Amino acid sequence: MYRSRLGKNLGKVTLDYVSSLNDDVEIALYDILGSQAHTIMLYENKIITKKEIKKILNGLEGLKKEKFDKKTDSEDIHELIESLIIKKIGIDVGGKMHTARSRNDQVALDIRMKIRDDINIVCQCLLDTIKSLVVLAKKHQETIIPLYTHLQQAQVGLFSHYLLSYADALFRDLDRLYVTYGRVNENPLGAGPIGGTSIPIDRISTGKMLGLKGIVENSIDATTTRDSAVEYIAAIAILMTNLSRVSKDFSIWSTSEFSFLELSDEFTSPSSVMPQKKNPDILELTRGKTSHVIGSLTSMLSTIQGLPSGYSRDLQQLNPSIWSASKIAISALLIMESMLKTVVINKKNMRKAAEDGYLIALDLAEKLVHHDISFRKSHQIIGRVVKLAHKSGKPISKLNESEVKKVIKDKKVSLKLLMELIRTTTLTSSLHERKSQGSSGISEQKRMIKHRMGKINAYQTGVKNRSDQVQNSLNKLNQKVKQLTR
Ligand code: ARG
Repeated sequence: MYRSRLGKNLGKVTLDYVSSLNDDVEIALYDILGSQAHTIMLYENKIITKKEIKKILNGLEGLKKEKFDKKTDSEDIHELIESLIIKKIGIDVGGKMHTARSRNDQVALDIRMKIRDDINIVCQCLLDTIKSLVVLAKKHQETIIPLYTHLQQAQVGLFSHYLLSYADALFRDLDRLYVTYGRVNENPLGAGPIGGTSIPIDRISTGKMLGLKGIVENSIDATTTRDSAVEYIAAIAILMTNLSRVSKDFSIWSTSEFSFLELSDEFTSPSSVMPQKKNPDILELTRGKTSHVIGSLTSMLSTIQGLPSGYSRDLQQLNPSIWSASKIAISALLIMESMLKTVVINKKNMRKAAEDGYLIALDLAEKLVHHDISFRKSHQIIGRVVKLAHKSGKPISKLNESEVKKVIKDKKVSLKLLMELIRTTTLTSSLHERKSQGSSGISEQKRMIKHRMGKINAYQTGVKNRSDQVQNSLNKLNQKVKQLTR
């Protein structure tokens, strides 16, 4: 439709090469809504007449149900929609729809509207997943589990503490997306191809009709930049790495060696050959898909890093990366949420693993600190206690006086005191005495669970208000369309 200056049409292979139509299906509706707001603005500023706006809006309404999957000569959804309108209502009126805009600001708008919706969906999914974590944490605030560093037993802890640690990471993901939203939700339309227009348009009013807050003012910036889209994908990539960690922990804990938990059947896969298998494929795919999203982020960054100012067609390549990252994150969160609701926790095995190690060693050493022994010294004494227990094949609590006597090389520490500490320090006592803020201590679990629940509710209100605002603006736009087409 645009090729009057060019003699020949694109060949079949070339058209297929340049066309973004397949990917554009995801933004078709935004393109129609954007066109409605744009043309209403043209009408309200007396650039087109009442008769003309009526015809254009009617035409656009008719396209809302279109699937856009037929063979066409159009290079993208913008060209296709305009050509369909012109076909329907003629070039004299239909040809006015593209007044004072370009595909460059148009596609920038569509991407922003799509990401805006995706952020709201991802935020809601995040909230649901965080809620499942905190609800599960509430059930397991006294479930003892070893805490690991280097995948070696480190300290005794509580299962809720792990779950809350995932929740906190997801809260940061939520917050990142929440802030990015503000930078995405601005109107680039009316920037034209790059330098603006002589037609007396009102960019703020177009944005308002679409529920956008303010405009991307500089027209070069508005049509060139994709940094807020990249920011969105970066936030999604980080979010996926957090889900990937949960997946890794849970798949390790579901092995028969650990047997800390059992995934419900619907989140596992069988083997084609070994009848006994119950593999955590779904969690593995969350890990695998995380790599895919990181790849998308890298590909987006390397696409934009070499570009000059102003629209270049390279930018078209970013879109499928955005769509796919959104899809992956939403599914990964939905699956994680249901998986958390159905997982069976094996408290006995968690506790047994904690009992088998020397997990109270640090708690013991800290008790000596309370008796004014320097930490380094008590670290050495308890280190020797552990060595002794390990050599004699007993738990620390089973060591007798004559054995323990050998490890005390300091007059400040009495055998009586050390024996008393060994006798009274247990997994449970350690968790009752662990009081530092954010620790695995029992009282901290209670406090953090309550606090995180409140935080979920606060974000819930914010996320809902945002979705409602978008919906309200689009409802109002729809009413305007109805009025003008009456
Ligand atoms: N399909 C294009 C994209 O997604 C739309 C913009 C085309 N602009 C142009 N000047 N060729 O980026």
